[in-house]
Amino acid sequence: MSELTDLYQELILDHNRSPRNRGRLENPDGLAQGYNPLCGDQISVSVKLDGDRIESIKFEGSGCAISTASASLMTQSLKGKTLEEAGELFNRFHKLLTEEGNAEELGQGMGKLKVFSGVCQYPARVKCATLAWHTVKAALNNKEGNITTE
Ligand code: FES
Repeated sequence: MSELTDLYQELILDHNRSPRNRGRLENPDGLAQGYNPLCGDQISVSVKLDGDRIESIKFEGSGCAISTASASLMTQSLKGKTLEEAGELFNRFHKLLTEEGNAEELGQGMGKLKVFSGVCQYPARVKCATLAWHTVKAALNNKEGNITTE
């Protein structure tokens, strides 16, 4: 196993053990529930906006290590971003996980989110890693209710 892979695994374990931005915001501007029907895991994401910028974002729910770490890193990455930047990051993250290709190239400029590039080899785990992202997309679109990764 390469040193880089070890580092990535350590990052996922760290965010699973100590998730950042866990909880629910009071009076959020956007709130959605996400559900992975493959395993039954659920997550909720709440967002507060300052104009078109994400001022704060929190998540709560239960899931596997990958989904929890992904939600935690996602909240860190999206805080302070504009809605447009958040949409771009969503698309890039999705591409990183679903497209075969040069992970280094696809992950360029994505910071710690690159840690999930290896997940594309495990289709079932892609849903784990994207659960929080689909959920925040729904929250930002103000779609109340539930979304699934299907
Ligand atoms: Fe349920 Fe990963 S196994 S979200």
